[in-house]
Amino acid sequence: MRKFLSLLFLLCLPALLLASARNIRIATAHTDLILQTSPEGRLYQVYFGERLREAADTAHLQWNAHGGTDPGHYTRGWEVCPGAGNESYFLPALAIPHADGNRSTYLYYKSHEVKAIPGGTETVITLADDRYPVTVKLHYAAYDKEDVIKTWSEISHRERRPVTLWGYASMMLYLTADRYYLTEYHSGWAKEGQPATQQLQYGKKVIDSQLGTMAARLMEPFFELGLNGPARENEGEALLGTLCWTGNFRFTFEIDDEGDLRLIPSINPYASDYRLAPGTTFTTPAFVFSRSADGTGTASRNLHDWARRYQLRDGMGDRMTLLNNWEMTYFDFDQEKLSRVMKDAKDLGVDLFLLDDGWFGNKYPRSNDRAGLGDWEATRAKLPDGLPGLARAAREAGVKLGLWIEPEMVNPKSELFERHPDWAITLPNRKTYYVRNQLVLDLTNPKVQDYVVSVIDRIMEQCPELAYFKWDCNSTFSNVYSHYLGEHQGQLYIDYVRGLYSVLDRVRAKYPQLAMMLCSGGGARCDYGALQYFTEFWCSDDTDPYERLYIQWSLSKFFPAKAMAAHVTAWNGRTSVKFRTDVASMCKLGFDIDLHGMSPDDLAFCRGAVTTYNRLKPVIQGGDQYRLISPYETNHMAVSYVSKDRRTGVLFAYDLHPRFDERLPLVRLRGLDPQARYRVEEINLRPGAQSSLPQNGRTFSGDYLMKVGLAVLTGGEGNSRVVELKAE
Ligand code: DGJ
Repeated sequence: MRKFLSLLFLLCLPALLLASARNIRIATAHTDLILQTSPEGRLYQVYFGERLREAADTAHLQWNAHGGTDPGHYTRGWEVCPGAGNESYFLPALAIPHADGNRSTYLYYKSHEVKAIPGGTETVITLADDRYPVTVKLHYAAYDKEDVIKTWSEISHRERRPVTLWGYASMMLYLTADRYYLTEYHSGWAKEGQPATQQLQYGKKVIDSQLGTMAARLMEPFFELGLNGPARENEGEALLGTLCWTGNFRFTFEIDDEGDLRLIPSINPYASDYRLAPGTTFTTPAFVFSRSADGTGTASRNLHDWARRYQLRDGMGDRMTLLNNWEMTYFDFDQEKLSRVMKDAKDLGVDLFLLDDGWFGNKYPRSNDRAGLGDWEATRAKLPDGLPGLARAAREAGVKLGLWIEPEMVNPKSELFERHPDWAITLPNRKTYYVRNQLVLDLTNPKVQDYVVSVIDRIMEQCPELAYFKWDCNSTFSNVYSHYLGEHQGQLYIDYVRGLYSVLDRVRAKYPQLAMMLCSGGGARCDYGALQYFTEFWCSDDTDPYERLYIQWSLSKFFPAKAMAAHVTAWNGRTSVKFRTDVASMCKLGFDIDLHGMSPDDLAFCRGAVTTYNRLKPVIQGGDQYRLISPYETNHMAVSYVSKDRRTGVLFAYDLHPRFDERLPLVRLRGLDPQARYRVEEINLRPGAQSSLPQNGRTFSGDYLMKVGLAVLTGGEGNSRVVELKAE
């Protein structure tokens, strides 16, 4: 009888366990992330993938997918927030040595709530240790229509003394497939966003940064994952992920002994043992991801929509075209020269003139990159009437004014450094190393934060109509030591970013209308943490249109066109001005080139291109983007943008280095209305030029354009074509 009862118990156990399990479903239109409590009360992921059609089916999911029914083996599962020192064999999400020296953390489900947020729901799950006063709140914001999930954690405790965290992942996500392929994007000056794909193997693969500022200098804070095959544009299961953090990041991809993939996005704990006082909260940055069953194209359009609606500063707003003087003049300018350039900007038809580096410093004028950073007063010798004089000239020319600043930095040759040497991040007892002859100001120090805010205030007082800042950052951390943090140096990397965000919060509260470009010696800062404050970012100093096509292709997977600043410059002057302008017109268009060096035809072309860009801005900046022909796989590139109502499309096509007598495929459009009829017209033609596009001026159904395509590619090296598709 006893035997029979035990057998009955064992047979019924799965049902009993399921009955006691609590499912928490985080869902978007096409994705489900389902968590479940175990009988012990710990929290596990039971499903991540295509959304389940029947809610009732979620009841079949089991937290111990790999375990048997023997409670002795219930130690495996995909724990959502595993703590260090518990029974898991793998990298934990959380690591807290407690005040008594015990280093283990076991978290148990306490409660959860679901609230409505714009565009979706936010689920907040509270977990707590049963032996120590440690609480973790997991946040999952699910954006339904955009199929994007944004997750972060809050860690707090009420121990007797401060504790020093060394693990603080934003979340932990488990994926299961036969094979996993990671595309990481490595970087460098003038070579941002270089993709490299590899199949992940057992054990860990880490992509990270430990540079402090300029965090994306060597590695970008985003990645692509392909399940069962390398991520492809229009097929297969893919996941795009990125961390909203402007500092050191770390993504760990760990394949465990079962062949499951553990993904752990986090601030990089490198040199960052973080002291957390009782009663305070450590909030991790958000990890944002979008998965798709039909390739990265869908996932990146999801991210674009999400960013424009919920993350990017003024994401739904307009963007200004501009003329920048950096590559035109470098440090060599005065008011007279700038007044002429402002008139050129007006003549070109752009909205704004952007004055770059070199306008400040009097005791140590900024006539090269060795002096002046920190002294944000206009150089009298160059600008005798200061910023008000500059603003007056812009007003007279009829353009808006923008200004370059690099307020997080100081040259040792500056009045600021003479006054406050301890505000710079420098080691007290070692030789100082410089990156671009400058040092990083210590933004962990509230006085330094106040100073940076006051720099902006002083500029805005002198120049209230200023419309735009280009906020640069040209040094990584070196000499890593904060004179403010004293013995708590483990907080420097993290509190620096928090200090920066606090400055930007204050600047944004005071000057909500200002457009701001995020720049970092090219594109060494491009993350959605910063982009909540910035309307756009500078993708790269490399404006060679050939190189830019590759860079823009990569970055476009994660960022919408309106966030990506691209300028027409003199880089690779062997290419035509048209080619360069067409490349920049795929993003947020600007110019940084001496217009007087151009032929009248080129200049007329540029004026026309600005007008066309302004007309098509809503499509390019606000529409859906389709990457059609990859420069990585062919000798060409084609990308299109389609308005949300599918009435207008713009197709950009480029011939890079075509081979002799190469077979040229027709470019099949995507995202059009198959029923609608579109008139095809080549635009951005040089003055007097006739289109040689065979289908120019004809009308086709969207169905035909998507199934058969257009003959936009040519065998001519450095050719480009822009084609407008207008529904009739
Ligand atoms: C680096 C930026 O990427 C450039 O565009 C320019 O602003 C320089 N800094 C100025 O020093």
